Amino acid sequence: MRVAVVSGGRSSEHEVSLASGEAVRGGLAAAGHEVLDVRAERDGTWTHEGREIDLRAGRGLMGADLAFPVLHGAFGEDGTIQGLFEMLDVPYAGAGVLASALCMDKVLFKELMARGGVPQVDYAAVRDGEAFDLDGLGLPVFVKPARMGSSVGIEKISSDGDLPGAVRRAHEHDPLVIVEAMASGIEVECSVLGNDDPRASEPGEITYEGEFYDYEAKYTPGGMELVVPARISATARERVQAIAVEAYRLVGCAGLARVDFFVDGDEVLLNELNTMPGFTPTSVYAKLWEASGLPYPELVDRLCTLAVERHARERAYRF
Ligand SMILES: Nc1ncnc2c1ncn2[C@@H]1O[C@H](COP(=O)(O)OP(=O)(O)O)[C@@H](O)[C@H]1O
Ligand SMILES: [Mg+2]
Repeated sequence: MRVAVVSGGRSSEHEVSLASGEAVRGGLAAAGHEVLDVRAERDGTWTHEGREIDLRAGRGLMGADLAFPVLHGAFGEDGTIQGLFEMLDVPYAGAGVLASALCMDKVLFKELMARGGVPQVDYAAVRDGEAFDLDGLGLPVFVKPARMGSSVGIEKISSDGDLPGAVRRAHEHDPLVIVEAMASGIEVECSVLGNDDPRASEPGEITYEGEFYDYEAKYTPGGMELVVPARISATARERVQAIAVEAYRLVGCAGLARVDFFVDGDEVLLNELNTMPGFTPTSVYAKLWEASGLPYPELVDRLCTLAVERHARERAYRF
């Protein structure tokens, strides 16, 4: 297949995305595919080999059989680029418009999970300018902009007096803020792959120094370590895998997702679902599949097949 790998993007995760894009191109080439390197530049234009490319509705993307977006955060993981691919009429790897947008919004995501009976921390949504009462959550709490990523804007707050300031700072990123009760235990992540019949990988455990898994821990070399398999009970492991697949189905995900948890003994709480996680061979998503017997080139190859299958099926419906 001829695959257009789109990387870069307008979010703060531009550089991370370029590294993921390079790795995906390598994996696709190793799996025998032809690769096109498409850059989403910081200014919003798209280029190929330094030249701006034309995008026209219904005309595909440079003759590619599919697009493989490896973009994180705003304009990449939030449904917007997925909508663009729909309008171009090109199959694309990963989740569709709605699932992407839903998973970017921590409040909507949690509300949907609550309806599905998925165990998670207690939380409250705080809209800019509205009064709030967070007494029910206890202390400490985590204050977060609802639609960010990479731990940007997140604060752990241990005293009531510090709450208004933290909420105000979070509102500088987003008019919608979520405040969560603190979960105990360790952080465990699980990779999911598939469309209608999604499979869960071996879960892995995230270790880091410091108060929580913040931006520095995520992006400083050596700031975090992945332990596979996670040092959790057999019961917790089964729950992680079952909830990962359940959450994936509830949001209507496709292709891939990394699903993140807090695990304390046998208790498993869902934290979040990332529809386009970091994607180098040393990223958690790929490492968990590697440990589950699926090497990187086979993983990216599988995602291409899933994209084409999904596109063909969606186009078979009458609309
Ligand atoms: N409710 C919580 N209880 C305990 N730790 C939390 C909680 N929420 C967030 N954290 C810590 O903050 C990190 C980032 O939060 P997360 O909701 O995953 O945001 P992001 O989308 O930026 O990754 C988590 O990996 C964890 O270390
Ligand atoms: Mg996270």
